[in-house]
Amino acid sequence: MEIGNKISRFKRHLVTAALPYANGAVHIGHLAGVYIPADIYVRYLRMTGEDVLFICGSDEHGVPITIRARQEGITPQQLVDKYHGIIKKSMYDLGISFDVYSRTSSPLHQRTASDFFRKLLDKNVFIEKVTNQFFDEDYGQFLADRYITGTCPHCGYEKSYGDQCEKCGTSQNPADLINPRSVLSGKAPVLRETRHWFLPLDKDEKWLRQWIVDEHGPDWKSNVVGQCKSWLDEGLQPRAVTRDLDWGVPVPVDNAPGKVLYVWFDAPIGYISATKELAQEKNINWELYWKDKETKMVHFIGKDNIVFHCIIFPSMLRAHGDYILPENVPANEFLNLEGEKISTSRNWAVWLHEYLEDFPGKQDVLRYVLTAIAPETKDNDFTWKAFQARNNNELASIFGNFVNRIIVLTHKYHEGEVKERLQLTDADRNVLSQLPLFTKRTGAAIERFTFREALSEMMGISRMGNKYLTDSEPWKLVSSDPGRVETILNISLQITATLAIVCRPFLPFTADKICGILNLDIEKFQWKDAGNPDILPPGHKINQPAILFEKIDDAKIEEQVKKLRT
Ligand code: MF3
Ligand code: ZN
Repeated sequence: MEIGNKISRFKRHLVTAALPYANGAVHIGHLAGVYIPADIYVRYLRMTGEDVLFICGSDEHGVPITIRARQEGITPQQLVDKYHGIIKKSMYDLGISFDVYSRTSSPLHQRTASDFFRKLLDKNVFIEKVTNQFFDEDYGQFLADRYITGTCPHCGYEKSYGDQCEKCGTSQNPADLINPRSVLSGKAPVLRETRHWFLPLDKDEKWLRQWIVDEHGPDWKSNVVGQCKSWLDEGLQPRAVTRDLDWGVPVPVDNAPGKVLYVWFDAPIGYISATKELAQEKNINWELYWKDKETKMVHFIGKDNIVFHCIIFPSMLRAHGDYILPENVPANEFLNLEGEKISTSRNWAVWLHEYLEDFPGKQDVLRYVLTAIAPETKDNDFTWKAFQARNNNELASIFGNFVNRIIVLTHKYHEGEVKERLQLTDADRNVLSQLPLFTKRTGAAIERFTFREALSEMMGISRMGNKYLTDSEPWKLVSSDPGRVETILNISLQITATLAIVCRPFLPFTADKICGILNLDIEKFQWKDAGNPDILPPGHKINQPAILFEKIDDAKIEEQVKKLRT
């Protein structure tokens, strides 16, 4: 089998998860699309003994942040401070195991982004252009597209934004709006000349096509390659990487007051600054992770981020010259909620920090359900009913039930002691030989970024355990064949130990709990130990059972549905 080869070709891994905008909290769509799959991947890599850094942080610049701050009557810095705190805490509480969770308003990031821009400027990468842009004379500032409203030329909606009409969805130029108005003063803006720096993406078309389509066409997800292809087929245009705005990284040249780097220029550089921050803390060399060909870099993102991670950021990295490019960009599609698009502005979302309060101790239930329904190949829907069903019928009835049964039986018949395996039957040999195969298939699916499949392989172990126990009926053999009972319980306990290891990337809290019950130190185990039929030696004593997954009742679910609608 080929498993493992792909990973071990590299000496180390750099895994990034899209930096969430600090203008709101994190919801289930973010989690299913980006953070949970990334965390499963990283936890698996760590368990296989790979050298890996897991990078994330808050994306704290950009126009939406200034708009939201204005609405709340606070400064942009106060706004991002608030959400950075909420996001960071909720992610770690869910067990998302970032090695660093940084932020783009940090001085280290400002310097890193600034130096990056200077380097491209010094290499004459940019073209400078003067264009006409709307300006608010009362406020004395240029207006970002989002700061202009007017009548949509397509549908006649009177409150269309400069960049997009929320009614008909058309994206447009602010200059196309009928009767444009400034959001700041409410007056008609005037056109004024302004100078900006552009990244000439048109010059990169050839190598980008070769790199994405020829080199990575076969191993990247088809939704990712497909989107890139259509961008390339339409032809790339030079893209402005600076803006007239007072919030962001100042453009590091003389005579450019009131100009900052475009948020999509500085944010991905945030991955680099976060790595530097971590490296300082841990005393490691950040450059190895970004500049050495033997590093495998993988970006986890949602589909709206594809062009930035597959075209613009690679073009920046290559123009700079020192950096490696990503080996893969496993982007997911979107998750809907109860049949409707998740929307922050309409508050149609399940917020992570609220879930953690409403369902204390149930982090793994959310991790499980969102992995099972992850929008890997197409948009998918989260419903509270399905959440309940997955918990009750899969986690509680299959996984939890199996573990609980074997622990209870071991205490009942053997005072909590692992006995020896005696003569093996065909059924015994069969389950023991299946264990390493389940393990292998789970790992292989994780390496291929097919996490739903990986999860279902993991669950296959608990299904097999349940069936084995039911079929062998040890409770009927207690007086007639005590030796047989010892063998059956031994095998079921070994299955449980493997399950604890294999479930760990997906359900880290549960893995800890099972190891506590089995009286094993989870930190001593690696992925390669899963499937071993002798994890628990004869004579080993286990601890008392504990419930892994409680059923969730209808009232609790109705409460959540009601909360959504209010
Ligand atoms: N903040 C962006 C979003 O939520 C993602 C930024 S990813 C980065 O869509 F690469 F720019 F950091
Ligand atoms: Zn419209």
